[in-house]
Amino acid sequence: MKRTITAVFIAAAALCACTGPAAEERAALIPQPCEIDYQAGFFTMPEGLEIAVASRELAPQAGYLTEALAKYTDASISEGTSGDVVLAIDPAMETEEYTLDVRRSGIRISGGSCRGVVNGIATLRQLLPAGAGGKAEVPCVKVSDRPAFGWRGAMLDVSRHFFDKGEIFRMLDQMAVLKLNKFHWHLTDDQGWRIEIKKYPDLTEKGGWRHFNKHDRICMERAEQQLNDDYLIPEKNLRINGADTLYGGFYTQEDIREVVSYAAARGIDVIPEIDMPGHFLQAIEYYPQMTCFKPETWTSEAFSSPLCLGKDEVLEFCEDIWKEVFALFPYKYVHIGGDEVNMTNWNRCPLCQARMKKEGLADGHALQAWFTHRMQEFFEANGKSMIGWDELLQGEVTPSTTIMWWRPWMPDSVNEATALGCDVILCPQSWFYFSLEEDSGSLERTSNYDMLPDSLSAAQKQHVLGVQGNVWAERVPSWSRAEYMFYPRLLIVAEKGWCEPGTVSFESLRPRLYRYCERLDEEGINYRIPSLENFHEFCVFTDSISSTVTCPLPNAVLRYTLDGSIPVKESPVYTGPITFYDDAVLTVRAFHQDGRTGDWVRICYDKCGYASPVEVDRTESGLQAEWYFKRFPGCDAVGGMAPSGSCTVDSVQFPQQAKGRRATGIIFRGYFRAPEDGIYTFALASNDGSLLRIDNRLVIDNDGEHTLLEKTGQAALSAGLHPLELRYFDYNGGRVDLCLVDGDGNRIPLDGDWFCHDME
Ligand code: ACM
Ligand code: ZN
Repeated sequence: MKRTITAVFIAAAALCACTGPAAEERAALIPQPCEIDYQAGFFTMPEGLEIAVASRELAPQAGYLTEALAKYTDASISEGTSGDVVLAIDPAMETEEYTLDVRRSGIRISGGSCRGVVNGIATLRQLLPAGAGGKAEVPCVKVSDRPAFGWRGAMLDVSRHFFDKGEIFRMLDQMAVLKLNKFHWHLTDDQGWRIEIKKYPDLTEKGGWRHFNKHDRICMERAEQQLNDDYLIPEKNLRINGADTLYGGFYTQEDIREVVSYAAARGIDVIPEIDMPGHFLQAIEYYPQMTCFKPETWTSEAFSSPLCLGKDEVLEFCEDIWKEVFALFPYKYVHIGGDEVNMTNWNRCPLCQARMKKEGLADGHALQAWFTHRMQEFFEANGKSMIGWDELLQGEVTPSTTIMWWRPWMPDSVNEATALGCDVILCPQSWFYFSLEEDSGSLERTSNYDMLPDSLSAAQKQHVLGVQGNVWAERVPSWSRAEYMFYPRLLIVAEKGWCEPGTVSFESLRPRLYRYCERLDEEGINYRIPSLENFHEFCVFTDSISSTVTCPLPNAVLRYTLDGSIPVKESPVYTGPITFYDDAVLTVRAFHQDGRTGDWVRICYDKCGYASPVEVDRTESGLQAEWYFKRFPGCDAVGGMAPSGSCTVDSVQFPQQAKGRRATGIIFRGYFRAPEDGIYTFALASNDGSLLRIDNRLVIDNDGEHTLLEKTGQAALSAGLHPLELRYFDYNGGRVDLCLVDGDGNRIPLDGDWFCHDME
């Protein structure tokens, strides 16, 4: 009998395996659900889908589902438990937990709350084809799923450039599909005040508008230089008064209510940030009595101008603002900012000085902490919890403060905050600031970020609420550019926030992420096509060479030029290897099918013989390193002053003796010992910039301020010694590594035997 049951079971399992979608046809789900079990068959969306809500509180979610399914079916909503799709709350589940049961006969989504149901809807949406033309079929599945972290966020700065309500809806809708549940809205800053405050109408009527500033000019220049319309300033954000053009926009309180309601239906909390006491220039320009000195003494592009904390009316002003904010955002958290306060005014303002004396405050940080505590008391009296950037740790903080960690150069912040009992949200700049340009290492670096390092105790780990991706909009003037910065990196935030930390890796995410890009294509969401692969920026050859560059996305269209110009949508399509018999410059750029574009790569092919070695009398092993404690704008600027120190190093590494400063430049000099005639491929990874020259020829250009980034390049060398110079500058990074790359792409460390330098 037992045997028969087993046989039947195996037969059924085999049937499932051949009737459910084949693995490669399954939708790419991000984040990966905890448990998903594909079964035989499909649910086909009928013409008039009936959605039933088992409890009335799910009506907004049913409305959201109707909108999400509008491209497949006209859905109707009723109360009860019979329908094609049933939404129900199961009090036995955790708030955000859900099950999704898709059968041929219908679909049931149960969640611990509306939020759990929303998460089930997200999985359902991802199981459906994204495009309007897709077959409206959902594979039969059983999904049982819950998040690892409660904070899965995205931050958008709408001050530096303004994004309208419709654009915010677009953002929220994508967040919902990715199960992201916190929208952090950076509503005010030096360059624009975007939230209507009825008591202080000039904050938006005047402070919502400005003349073009340096950020706008940079964007306009980039639009021209990079042949990229995403950098154009949208006309809808201009107010033209005769010869006077103002840039801006703001949200009325009614707009905010609409956004909050749209977000709530999608299970998303909206966290307003009113950044204070710094980053306040636009407000104090129109309420100058709130600052220490008249704004005329500031330049119009001053940075992080603060409130005067010596004046009691400033406290009232802030509380009045918060009162209106609290009434608009029905959530636990509000964000006070508190970052990068420019404290110069406070040090010369008699009123601030008097406050410091009276309250026994030693310095500007203590004064800021005093102000923050005053605000925190007000927040808590109104039932709100305060979030602030990690600068708050420079003054005293109470355990009820939630710290948002953004400064990787303050690496102890998470340890310090959690040890104090504060909750922490992770968005360290090098990994989660999506306003930083994406590079070829970004996706892997962000995917592999260690959310809960072993250095934290179990109790401290409990205080890590989750993770967030941030876009600051200085160089993001259009919504298309904002999407380009957010995607695909925001998919990684979704996975990091939802899945258990040990289960997330780039290896597992990469194939799903690339396939998910097809969904973004179909939904018309702009995104950065993942970096082109399989090339070195500087290649050398002796007879002929064929290009090898490829794109990881099959849907992208590659276009190229051979004259050094940037490819445009009229440039020829690159379909495969081009063979060169002479020097050449190949520039390749990836385009979306709709013509939208972004980055390009330039590959130099240099036809040359093997460079002759030099004769050197007396050498010793290793390279000489000289360092300079100064902030340099680029590698070739390093030097020009007496070195701060020097030593001999075995390999290209940041010398231990040179560590400890925020900004350093290093020059490594000596010879590379080529063991035989050949083409040598080098890989140079650095944070920040680096340049490698061999025989006075540029081999790798990895210059510029950036996070850890590897570039590769080649040199054709005869056996013997070749002069090598490697320049590096550091600003918040502290890593430089030079390796050889073998024919299989393996990195081979270069130690002292590969290098020597002149004996003194
Ligand atoms: C920040 O990036 N200033 C929080
Ligand atoms: Zn003052």
